[in-house]
Amino acid sequence: DSVDSTNVYARTLIQQGFGEGAAVIADSQTRGRGRFGKNWYSPPEMGVWMSVILPSMKNDDSFVNMSYISTLSVVEALNDAAKLKTEIKWPNDVLIKQKKIAGILSEIVKLNDKKSFIVSGIGVNINYEYEKFPPELREVATSLSIVTGSKFPRERIVASILNILEKNYSAAIENGTDYIFTEWMKRCTTIGRRIRVVQSEKYFEGTAESIKPDGRLIIRDSRNNIIEITPSDIIKVIEYI
Ligand code: BTN
Repeated sequence: DSVDSTNVYARTLIQQGFGEGAAVIADSQTRGRGRFGKNWYSPPEMGVWMSVILPSMKNDDSFVNMSYISTLSVVEALNDAAKLKTEIKWPNDVLIKQKKIAGILSEIVKLNDKKSFIVSGIGVNINYEYEKFPPELREVATSLSIVTGSKFPRERIVASILNILEKNYSAAIENGTDYIFTEWMKRCTTIGRRIRVVQSEKYFEGTAESIKPDGRLIIRDSRNNIIEITPSDIIKVIEYI
């Protein structure tokens, strides 16, 4: 069915008393939201548009860790669906052949002073053909059917993402989050790349030097200055150059 945004719907569910583990899955979204205040195109039958309610633990980096878990789970589910060379671009874009196949938008929802949750919004382009993307996305976005040449039942991908998410989440609870970050880093291709970070008025360029478990990206510019950006900084785009 259609909703405005599964992230907004999940927020309403939390206010109604639903808790961690609940998921909202839509056929289409009328106001799908992307990072940096952009729209996220979410037409019927083309993709997986869903939001998962995850717990937010106090006094730790659970927000960043839940984002790592969600992104890693999407990558693993795509690799299970088809043997693909999937990459993560900081902070949590999923790319195949340099084009974006999936994005994650995590948000904190505070219920009251004591309790808050993380809504992890997952968008995966599944059955789009090239012409079905709006023209401005055709060269930067891709889908599972474009890269494999076949159509996929979306419910299988949903089930796979949720199963893997649960497995990774339980592993993080039992053994800590180091393993998740290590696995995430293995798939992240941002380190060593020349990148341009565009903010509202200014931009800067440099080489991505490292990523910290708390989500910071460390960049070195041509004058050897170190610049740190966090996933929550107001950024318009991060591009490889
Ligand atoms: C990005 O810009 O990379 C993040 C895109 C996140 C899109 C998903 S689709 C399901 C969920 N609901 C939304 O409104 N956005 C996320």
